[in-house]
Amino acid sequence: MNYLRFSFIGILFLLQCREPELPTCTTDSGPLFAHFSFPVGAALEPLDMASNSAYASLANTEFNSITPENIFKPAFLHPEPGVFYWQETDSLVQFCLNAGKRLHGHTLIWHQQLPYWMENFQGNATEWESMMKNHIQTIVGRYKGKVRSWDVVNEALEDDGSLRNNTWLEHIGESYIEKAFQFAQEADPDALLFYNDYSLESKPEKCKAALDMLQKLRDKGVKIDGIGLQMHISILSPSNNSIENAVQAFATAGFLVHLSELDISINPLGNKITSPKPQALLQQADKMRAILQIYQNIPAAQQFGITFWGIGDSDSWIPGFFGRTDFPLLFDENYAPKPIYCTMIE
Ligand code: G3I
Repeated sequence: MNYLRFSFIGILFLLQCREPELPTCTTDSGPLFAHFSFPVGAALEPLDMASNSAYASLANTEFNSITPENIFKPAFLHPEPGVFYWQETDSLVQFCLNAGKRLHGHTLIWHQQLPYWMENFQGNATEWESMMKNHIQTIVGRYKGKVRSWDVVNEALEDDGSLRNNTWLEHIGESYIEKAFQFAQEADPDALLFYNDYSLESKPEKCKAALDMLQKLRDKGVKIDGIGLQMHISILSPSNNSIENAVQAFATAGFLVHLSELDISINPLGNKITSPKPQALLQQADKMRAILQIYQNIPAAQQFGITFWGIGDSDSWIPGFFGRTDFPLLFDENYAPKPIYCTMIE
């Protein structure tokens, strides 16, 4: 009798300890984007395209929307007053045109990755405004009709919903946001213009502040087409409910919704790990499934697309920025599809 009881407990124990079964798949079932009615994108680094064939191959085949991860930012593109470094941006624009991929310009006005001269620009509010106008219109004007959409202003809000006290606010005042959109619209009236920010899906106060800001601008007649919810999230948070509230709020207000920088951290607490645990990969895949359901619940006309912030885990900004090992993207370090990818094409 005792023997039977111990065997039973043993089997139960083994069942509990068994690793979960992970979905497996290849990239042979056609491009990822072809499984969806909205564009599926990735943030790209041209240097990686040139030096890494696995990366370039996935960038070419799997995605039909591209966001430049860094090369359109002022520090790279506008390093000195009047000097624009067009070589890489021109090549990327041409690559996208040739390959029939949408290019989403990122980003015109941000408080980070500013060149030294811009951050230290000497001038009054009018001169700052005209410097900003020149920056925006030179770039947007050059790619008129070629770059479909722009993150015009990035991360202008603090987590509590107040305006971020950045260089632009300090020198131009609150109107810098509205002016940035106006300047972009003048340079390419047909381009779609976005406000892009993080934690909108996890911080209701910030989400509300962003929505109020967009609605106020639109009511004033400023062309502002959509919201970029960056979605740097993890398997632990935010809740699916919280994500849904944010996505629905902007969709109900009539804005295009771009999940613009999606990555799903599996090690948000920074544990010492060297490889992802199967359970975590499964949670990552489940989170993605929930996100797809939430996204597919908004009207198709407002689904601007879902963009991943990189291709393989080794491309992610997270390990370098937070100093922890992580595996937040669709492909692993060898560019093999992960369960999260398999769930998407399921
Ligand atoms: O290009 C230089 C190189 O010349 C130099 O040797 C090297 C030394 O550190 O730095 C290189 O620049 C780095 C750049 O990425 C290009 O690789 C910067 O140090 C590094 O800080 C920069 O990080 C980028 C970060 O924005 C800057 O804040 C990340 O790649 C990029 O993924 C990240 O993207 C942001 C979005 O634009 C906005 N939303 C948040 C997101 C994640 O932070």
